[in-house]
Formats: sequence, structure tokens, C-alpha cells
Amino acid sequence: MSVATENIATHELTLPQELVLMFLNEETGYFHQVPGWNLNCAIIGALLAELLVRYRIDADGESLKVLDRTETGNLVLDPILARIADEPEEHTVEYWVERLVFRAPSIIELILERLVEQNVLDYHEGEFWTLARTSWQTEVYAKSRGSTAVEFVKTRVGKTIFDNEIPSLRDAIIICLLDTCDVLRFIFQLDDESEERIKLICRMSLIGRSVAEAVASNFAGGTLQRSVLAKSIPTVPLHKLLLNPHVRTGNIPAIFAELRKEYGPVFQLRPPFSEPLYFIGGPRVNQWVQRNGRQYLRARDYFADFEKVYGASGLIPAVDGADHFRLRKAMSPGYSRERLEAQLDEVYRNARTYMADWKVGDSYSARSLCRRMINAQISPLTVSIESQDIVDDLMAYKERGLCTHVARVLPKFMLYTPGMRRRAKVVDEVTNRVQRVHTPAQRAGRPRDLADDLLSLQASDPQFLPESNMPFMLSAPLLASMYLGDALSFAVYAMAAQPEMYARIQKEADALFGDGDPQGEDFTLEALDVTHRFLMEVMRMYPVVPMSIRNVMNTCVVEGFELPVGARIHIATTASHYLEDAFPEPFTFDIDRYTAPRNEHRSRAYAPYGLGTHTCLGTRLMERQLAINVLMIAHYFTLEVSPDKFKRKLTFSPFPSNKPSGKLKFVIAEQRRELSA
Ligand code: HEM
Repeated sequence: MSVATENIATHELTLPQELVLMFLNEETGYFHQVPGWNLNCAIIGALLAELLVRYRIDADGESLKVLDRTETGNLVLDPILARIADEPEEHTVEYWVERLVFRAPSIIELILERLVEQNVLDYHEGEFWTLARTSWQTEVYAKSRGSTAVEFVKTRVGKTIFDNEIPSLRDAIIICLLDTCDVLRFIFQLDDESEERIKLICRMSLIGRSVAEAVASNFAGGTLQRSVLAKSIPTVPLHKLLLNPHVRTGNIPAIFAELRKEYGPVFQLRPPFSEPLYFIGGPRVNQWVQRNGRQYLRARDYFADFEKVYGASGLIPAVDGADHFRLRKAMSPGYSRERLEAQLDEVYRNARTYMADWKVGDSYSARSLCRRMINAQISPLTVSIESQDIVDDLMAYKERGLCTHVARVLPKFMLYTPGMRRRAKVVDEVTNRVQRVHTPAQRAGRPRDLADDLLSLQASDPQFLPESNMPFMLSAPLLASMYLGDALSFAVYAMAAQPEMYARIQKEADALFGDGDPQGEDFTLEALDVTHRFLMEVMRMYPVVPMSIRNVMNTCVVEGFELPVGARIHIATTASHYLEDAFPEPFTFDIDRYTAPRNEHRSRAYAPYGLGTHTCLGTRLMERQLAINVLMIAHYFTLEVSPDKFKRKLTFSPFPSNKPSGKLKFVIAEQRRELSA
């Protein structure tokens, strides 16, 4: 095969990297939707083409030969080159595309990581990527590309197609691969003339054509692969579930871990008179959901009924694709750690005011104490109102709605009892309160909050964020803060039930708060060493949101099991928290899991904040806020667990989200110092 001469030595981006950039859809923060197999084949094709243009391999119709096995220094290319060079026989390009395609997902991950390191892409929590708005193009291309130095790959390809410019070898290959995947029409507005030109370009590039043909010949393989290999999904007899030792304590992740061990990563339950319920769980399932969930699963269906409860449509947990990414971007400043850190003094003041009522010897319901303590801070921080008087009703209504319309553990009419109808009214009360304090005069000089962001988005794009969604959107942070309140209950419980741990946290708390209140930069990993690992272990053993629900929108194979279109899937994200392989002795509270060399949290087995695109948007904010509350409680008070039976074993109230038993109490055993100190 002839290779056009081109100076590639200084080329900073490889063909697989450029292909990934071309596939990137900035509106969705991910790739243009290409079936997974096609994308994978195309990436392998680009990789082989890169080795071809670097003269490491050559290919004709018959076979692909290694010309030079010297490493290129590229982490993605070298293992593939070595794999081909080690093969005793020669094979065709088609053979290698098929052979290597299973490596494509991890190759894509490496490519994305590298592009982020090179400052070409920005990574956003939840598996989203966008182009970095920096000078990367100048830096990367100025060295090698003369007149095209500042051009971004899409512009170059566009010019080649529309301006009749002579394509460079690389651009021709990229165009061939994109054409083979049939995505050019999603990226550009094509007409007959440009389609003709694409065909011509593909004919001109021998390398591109040969690789693209090999890629195309592999596409069918993906579909066939799917159904040939699929195994049938085991059914868990209902009595097995009921006899599960953890049902009595209500420990949902531990129940799923047991079922996962006995029945494997995919199983179903068949309750009488209803559709089968599918469950998937385990470390590899988590990895799959994180990487591939967006292509096969969607959030809309399971949440649709619940949206109606609030008269809303298109709320963030229920949208997917470009609208979802746009909403996340719009909401993330309001849920950011930076906003919290900008108002730490107010957070400390509210926490102290709340604790001022605690009297030594008194005992309090753990749930209500912790939920209200967090609410006292989150409510002013995110929507600039007080809501202590209505938050119990707000939460009771939401929990009932989740039980009736999502988890379906209660019949729907239970949401319309007189008590619930009364509670429903507090949702509008939140909106009224927020609106009253969000007039221009009231907001002047105040730090921006989430409500400011949402109200201005609503005013500027009422179709995207309609008024009908505002009651839920404005009360959502108060509802979400209840999860944080429940996490605080678990944390205080774990501290109070383990006096040694309490003492270690108190030491850190005293160091941080002993000499005035800490500011953002004081919360270093060193200063929070024990508290940070303690909270990670709390979230492992007592995850507040143990699973997620989705519907299958495209047939998919998970761990060899085919999930049918339309099926409702329960993703037991935290089942692996109780699997010995991922977390040895999972029932032991052990904060040393999170230090090197163990680092047990550094795999997808650890997933307390969900997986994939809908990963908790409040993670960074709430991790810091949880730490602040645990430290402040430890600094000022010693709490004890009551009744005594809970010191030995905690029981849970798992629906609709996980929290300690309603009977758990905390007794104020000691006040260590004045609150004003
Ligand atoms: C310990 C407390 C919390 C836990 C364990 C938690 C966990 C989660 C999980 C697992 C999800 C994904 C649900 C799914 O996949 O369907 C989620 C979503 C979300 N969380 Fe949290 N959360 C907590 C607190 C908060 C707080 C305090 C906020 C904000 C103030 C918040 C904001 C959100 C938002 C906006 C989403 C939806 C994200 C999306 O759909 O893209 N969370 N959370």
C-alpha cells in the first residue's frame, strides 16, 4: 500500500484521538450515537491506520505485515503493535479488526484520559466530555501544521468536504471511517454534492478505504454476537429472598450481595400478578453501567409517574441525552463545593444555632435530629429561605410519592389520603417563599444561589425549563438534603457506636476548629485523614441510595445475559459494597481499606453516589458538608447510641431510600465546650 508522504513525527494527536474528537457531540457531552460495536470497530480501524501511516505495519488485500516493531512511545498504539508482531502468522486487516475490537472500550477510555491530560477535552462528573476552551489547538498544532496550525479537526474535515481542498492523508482516513459509521450527516449538513465528494475522498485514500472496508465487514458481527451468546436469566424464588438473612435487618446492599453470590450478576424476581423485576449487580456490572449505560438504558420511564405527582415533566433525574447534559451544566454551580465554601461562615453559624438547643442527658430521634440539622444549612444556602417548619411534610410527601409511584411498594391511592393532600400544599409554599425573597431588591448584594440560577434559566428559556417544573426544582435541594441528613445519621451512629473512632475524629475536629473556624483551604486531606476515610466507610456500609432504576431502550447483553427492550432494571449499584472480592470482611468497619496499597475504593465496586450520566450532582458539596457536620458535632459534643441493642447491630428502614431504623436515638452524653467558642 502506498503511503503519501507527510511529516507525522511532530503530530501530537493520533488518528484514534482525532476520530474520538470527531465523534464527540458537545451538546450531549458524549459521542454521536453510533452502535457500540461500530464505534469500537472504527476506533480499531483508526489505530491500525495510525500504525500504517507511521510505517510500523503495511497492508494489502491479502495480509497485514509488521514492518518495524519499534515502539512508538504511545500507550495506545504500542500494545497493539506488540500483539500483532507477536502473532506467528499473517492475517488480513479484517481479521485484526475483529480480533482487537474487544479492547476498544478500554482503548477509548485511555484516549479520553489522554485528551483530558493534554487539555484538549474537559471531563465533567457523570461521564461527560466537552472541548476545553483553551489554547490547546495553537499549542498542539502550531508545531506541525503550518497554515492549519490553529484549526480544529472538525473545521479541517469540514473544509476538506465542502471547500474542495485536497485532503491530507489523515483527514481522508478520518472521513472514510466516519462515512463507514454513517455519522457524517449528524456532524455536517450534507447535500448531494458533498456526499459525492465524500465518496471521492474515500476512493482516493487507499489506507482509509482498506481499513474502512475491514471495519464495515465487522459490523454484522456485533449484532450476531449479541444473541448467539446470551444466556437465560435465572429466577430467584420468592422464598429465597424472604429467607435471606439480611431481610430482617433491612440491609438492602447485603441482600443483593448474597443474591449476586448465589445467582450471578443478572437475575429476576417474578412477583405474582406483575411483570418480572430484573436486577443486575456486581463490580463488572457497575463498570458496564458506567461505560455503556447511556446507550442502552434510560431514566425517563421509571420517573414519569413520579413527575406527574408534582405536575412536572423533564426533571433532571428523568431526562437523558443533550437536555440532560444542559440541565446538569445549568445546575452544577448551585450544587458546587465552591458555593458552599464561599458561605462557610453562614453554614457554621446555622449549625451552631441548631446545636444550641441540645441539652446533656436529652435523647433525640436520630433521623429527625440529623435531617433538621442539615436542612438548617442547605435551605438558606441553596434557595435562601428557612424551611424547618415545613420540611417534615415536604419529605413525607416525597417519600410517599416514591413508595407509590416509583418503588411501587404501596398502592397509588395512598398518596391521596387527607394527610397527604395537606402535605402536598407545602410544595407550593416553598415556591412562594423562594419567590418572595428573589426579587431584585432582596437579592442585591447577596451571594448567588441555586434559585437565582433556576429562575433566570426559566425566564430565558421557558420551553426548556417551564414554570410547571419550578415547584419541584425549587424544593429539590431541600428534598435532597434529607438524603444528606440520613447520611449524617449513619455517620453519627458509626461514630457513637465506636468510641475509639469518635476519639480520633474529635482529635481532628479539635485541631481544625480549636483555633477559629476553618476556611476552605484548611480542609486538606491531611487534616481530614481519619474523618475522610471514616465517611467513605460509612457510605460503603450504609449507602443512602443503594440502587438505581432504569428501563432498557436498546437490547443489550450484560455479563452474557440479554436484557430485553422495555424491561425495568434495578441496578444494585452498592451490592458490591458487601462482596468479599471487592471489600474483604465486608461487615467489618475498617477505614484502612482506603489507604495504599489496599485502595479498595478505587474500582467501580464502590458506588455510593450512583453510576454513569445521572451520578449525584451534589457529591462534592455534600461530602464537604457531611465532614463539617460530623466534625462540628464531635468538637462540641459526645453523643451515645440508644437503645443499647443498636450498639451491637443497626437495623435499617430501606424504603424508599436507606436510613437507620426510626427507633434509633442519640443521647447527648457530654457537651465538651461552649458553642460560641
Ligand atoms: C449522602 C447524600 C446523597 C447521596 C447518597 C446521593 C446519591 C445520589 C445518587 C445515587 C444519585 C443517582 C440516582 C440515579 O442514578 O437514579 C443522585 C442523583 C442526584 N443527586 Fe444526590 N445524593 C445525596 C445528596 C445530594 C444532595 C445534598 C444534593 C443536592 C443538594 C444532591 C443532588 C442530586 C441531583 C441533582 C441528582 C440528579 C442527577 C442527575 O439526574 O443527573 N444529592 N444522588
